[in-house]
Amino acid sequence: MSSHRRALVTGASTGIGHAFARRLAQAGYRVTAVARSEHRLRDLVGELGPDHHFLIADLTTEQGLRRVVDHLADQPVDLLVNNAGTAYHGPFTRTLPGDAATTIRLNCEAMTVLAHAFLTHAEPGGALINVSSTLAFAPTPDLAVYSASKAFAAALSVALWHEHKDRGIYVMGLCPGPTATESAAESHTGVPKALIQTPEELVAHAMKALTRRKRPIVVPGSANTLFALVARVLPHSAFAGPNSKGPALTPSANR
Ligand SMILES: NC(=O)c1ccc[n+]([C@@H]2O[C@H](COP(=O)([O-])OP(=O)(O)OC[C@H]3O[C@@H](n4cnc5c(N)ncnc54)[C@H](OP(=O)(O)O)[C@@H]3O)[C@@H](O)[C@H]2O)c1
Repeated sequence: MSSHRRALVTGASTGIGHAFARRLAQAGYRVTAVARSEHRLRDLVGELGPDHHFLIADLTTEQGLRRVVDHLADQPVDLLVNNAGTAYHGPFTRTLPGDAATTIRLNCEAMTVLAHAFLTHAEPGGALINVSSTLAFAPTPDLAVYSASKAFAAALSVALWHEHKDRGIYVMGLCPGPTATESAAESHTGVPKALIQTPEELVAHAMKALTRRKRPIVVPGSANTLFALVARVLPHSAFAGPNSKGPALTPSANR
């Protein structure tokens, strides 16, 4: 892979986005890492080296989103990883209305606006990864807005895959299951360790799928694939997602 390829990763300051940024830099991409935490981004780019950059942006604000859209217009990338996301746990009416709005703004609106900016400038060979979740297939009590936002991400990805494949542009809806990131640890209480992937395992799976460029939906690992399959086949009334008993209410708990 030639060293002039460029990638922009949102939510790169920690977790899955951080693992993507490191893996892509190893693969020869020049990475632009986007998030709000300047010190974490600075540390990451310091580790990656001089060809890599960071951009501080709160993607729930018009100004932050505009900053990244302008960047994608000025310096088009070969790969956009639309990874930044958030979740608020708890019964719908006991979370704050602002929590739902923030989730939709980040997980749906920012993803869509950045996908539009990327696809407008993308060249054949380019790729877009939208990070969804296996919960896209399992509307989940106590994570209602989050699981709905991930269904949006998956559906958007499939439609864009069809629209852009003849341009030679690959769109992937990446649907991770439980992944061991700092912010998600609490929501994985009770999940057997064997079912939790590391961000590095997840990203390795995504990178393979990125090379193959075959399917619009990529579910990493056999346990997650089985979960997604069962969730898709069973009627909604019979399947209420993995959190049907729900974690303790933790309003505003970012995942
Ligand atoms: N971990 C899991 O089990 C799991 C499972 C399925 C899907 N996913 C999805 O995978 C993606 C990453 O998850 P993760 O567990 O790695 O999450 P994470 O550890 O909480 O990281 C989220 C990233 O998004 C950034 N971010 C949050 N709010 C932002 C905002 N308003 N503007 C810009 N950046 C923002 C955070 O950086 P700053 O705070 O510095 O802004 C951070 O870099 C998410 O879309 C998540 O829904 C995760």
